Amino acid sequence: FGQSLYKGINYYSQQVQPAEAIDPVRYISNHSSGKMGFALAQAAAEMGAKVTLVSDAVNLATPAGVKRIDVDSAQQMLDAVMQQVEQHDIFIGCAAVADYRIADIADQKIKKSAEEMQLALVRNPDILATVAQHTTRPFTVGFAAETNDVEQYARGKLQRKKLDMIAANDVSIQGLGFNADSNALQVFWQDGSQQLPATDKLTLAHQLLTLIEQQLNKS
Ligand code: C5P
Repeated sequence: FGQSLYKGINYYSQQVQPAEAIDPVRYISNHSSGKMGFALAQAAAEMGAKVTLVSDAVNLATPAGVKRIDVDSAQQMLDAVMQQVEQHDIFIGCAAVADYRIADIADQKIKKSAEEMQLALVRNPDILATVAQHTTRPFTVGFAAETNDVEQYARGKLQRKKLDMIAANDVSIQGLGFNADSNALQVFWQDGSQQLPATDKLTLAHQLLTLIEQQLNKS
């Protein structure tokens, strides 16, 4: 992945789920730990790429040599990504971005009163699809966390979001994926696929980047 293979290649990844604020003390988030994203950033840096990591301020150490941009919401992640996107040759969207955000974030802590309360949500922009639609887009790689019919859903996302590659993982398998140190991926592109069996996330990240490198060299 080094500069011997590509002239001044930059690797870019949007990695970790931004939480969505409800009020100054609460937020909506999910079980994604960000470990796969940080492993990808570390692996790419080890392979010689210049890496920008756009991440929520999670409690993971920034890998050596990686430029990190912290964000607080999907909208901020989109803004940071679109500001950077033209300077990068590869974009990996690994963040478990919230599909919805709070319509109106309260300025002050919401107090309990009635037995029931409702929060109005609005759709978040799709960062990955926005990158894929950009005119001078990088090689664009998405992730798909599925619980069933993994290939069908992953290939659907590859087409619909106009991606170059998608890495799917079955999050119904205990001990793999969300919040775990190991993962297994099924990787799909237009005319091919590859299984990457369960291993630690850093090894898997190196294997995925090797596949990306092979496909990028063909295009
Ligand atoms: O459609 P779905 O959310 O399952 O697609 C997952 C892929 O899309 C992941 O690569 C994720 O990072 C990306 N995504 C995004 N912005 C969103 C939702 C998902 O970039 N708002």
